Amino acid sequence: MKRFRPLSRRGLLLGAGATAMIGAPAFGQGHAMRRTAPNRASDAFTPDVELELMCKRDETPILTGKPTRVWRYVGNLIKGPPNALTALPDAYLGPLLRFTKGQKVRIRLRNDLPEETITHWHGLHVPMLMDGHPTAAIDPGETYVYEFEIRNRAGMYFYHPHTHEKTATQVYRGLAGAMIVEDEEERALGLPSGEFEIPLVIQDRSFDDDNQLAYGDDMHTSMFGFYGDRVLVNGRSDFTIDVASRAYRLRILNGSNARIYKLCWDDRTPLTVIGVDGGLLEKAETRPYVMLAPAERVDLIVDFSGRPQGSKRTMLSGEFYGLIPPMAQRMMGSDLAMGEEFPLFTARVTKASNESWRLPETLSTIRRFRKEEIANSDDPIPIAITMAHMAMFLNGRPYGHNDIQRRERIPVDTTQLIEIFHEHGGMGGMGMMGGGRMRGRMGGMGMGGMGMGGMGMGMGMGGMGMMGMMSMAHPIHLHGQPFEIIERRFEGDEDAYASVRDGFIDSGLKDTVLVAPGERLRIIKPFGDFKGRFMYHCHNLEHEDAGMMREFSVE
Ligand code: C2O
Ligand code: CU
Ligand code: CU
Repeated sequence: MKRFRPLSRRGLLLGAGATAMIGAPAFGQGHAMRRTAPNRASDAFTPDVELELMCKRDETPILTGKPTRVWRYVGNLIKGPPNALTALPDAYLGPLLRFTKGQKVRIRLRNDLPEETITHWHGLHVPMLMDGHPTAAIDPGETYVYEFEIRNRAGMYFYHPHTHEKTATQVYRGLAGAMIVEDEEERALGLPSGEFEIPLVIQDRSFDDDNQLAYGDDMHTSMFGFYGDRVLVNGRSDFTIDVASRAYRLRILNGSNARIYKLCWDDRTPLTVIGVDGGLLEKAETRPYVMLAPAERVDLIVDFSGRPQGSKRTMLSGEFYGLIPPMAQRMMGSDLAMGEEFPLFTARVTKASNESWRLPETLSTIRRFRKEEIANSDDPIPIAITMAHMAMFLNGRPYGHNDIQRRERIPVDTTQLIEIFHEHGGMGGMGMMGGGRMRGRMGGMGMGGMGMGGMGMGMGMGGMGMMGMMSMAHPIHLHGQPFEIIERRFEGDEDAYASVRDGFIDSGLKDTVLVAPGERLRIIKPFGDFKGRFMYHCHNLEHEDAGMMREFSVE
């Protein structure tokens, strides 16, 4: 395995009291964010499940030797079935939450951190006040009470902080967890459950010599995202699962800040995919590999029957190209270059089993939208991704609360066609730098700290040069109801694209989609039930914090 060595390594320690901050961009409109008061429990709401989640500082063993200081969710079930909350022993990862469609859930989020925070239930269709909007952030010592009904279909979801400009570092320190929703349709299938259903959260981290988390505070991190040099699964390094020779359901979530994985077995056994972000597919799909970008989920059936005891199979991240500029890959400061092959976890057959199980032919029914139901079939709402010198934008603007543009106003209970594409830095991005907005923003980013002169990226570089240099894949996430991907067009480096294209599962419902360089996607998304501000952003968390986030006003 060839390895890129970092040119320089400017890891920052995330110890107690360390303020590890990437160049924080100025707030879009240059005004402070107005906070909503912490939501309180309502007497009118009778929860089926009630739990408390504390965000706190802690220590946990990750590597051999000294424990690692982390920030984590610690949960406590107040009411409801015992499997609603399962703690992961000896791991920083938040407890596994398990709900059923139709349940009413109350979650008391308590902030015992030294800074503000707020939690978002990624993928859940909930009102704005329950969505973990950055304006709902609470101060240390405060509690925010969430009350909502589970309206989503069965699937694996993700909870994590959504704190303004602090999402990346809060998730990195350990605040993240998986949530499973069950429903009748899925239960009727008799999929492997209990010990045969294994949730796996994949993340990457870097450690210093003292076993403490290290985070890059340099320009490369804020530009391209954080890439650790060690893979953790469910908060553990060198993760191994002991399995019986029978069928398993592996539910995988990419909880990394920026890293994209190409899941494949070391013996090249194809993957049987039964679900993605928004739940089960209609029919299983067999793929040589699956691409999994930050916040994406994939649901796999793995059959170990007939495998001898003692045999092993390792899930790798396989080789791929073109999702990050080669220059960035070399400079990103990680020993584990993105796109190179490395192991993720190993399954070891330790028990014999005669259980034979057949995957049902039909898994679910997905209600597809008809053309007449789409409010804007000839005029898609754009999501233009700009990544250029000092500019991490969506639709040409950084995040700004109360900065809703015309195309970002959406009538409630409509279904919209949305087109997601790259808008290249080149001239577009640079043209903007003359504007007043840009000047304000550059002030905030700090020309010095973020200056790219050292990268030899001259301002005189033409559109194409900039484009080639800055093109990378962005996992675009939209809050609220999941969407359908109806079109994926590509124009660019075919060879690089061939190393990833068979790994995109577009047949299920999604809430996060990877948009590779050169791709243009069309999605259909309903905006039902709830009015308010719902975010859409890049789920490369460093990009999100740097401004690659906007919001739709559903009105
Ligand atoms: Cu998983 Cu807006 O986030
Ligand atoms: Cu989300
Ligand atoms: Cu991005």
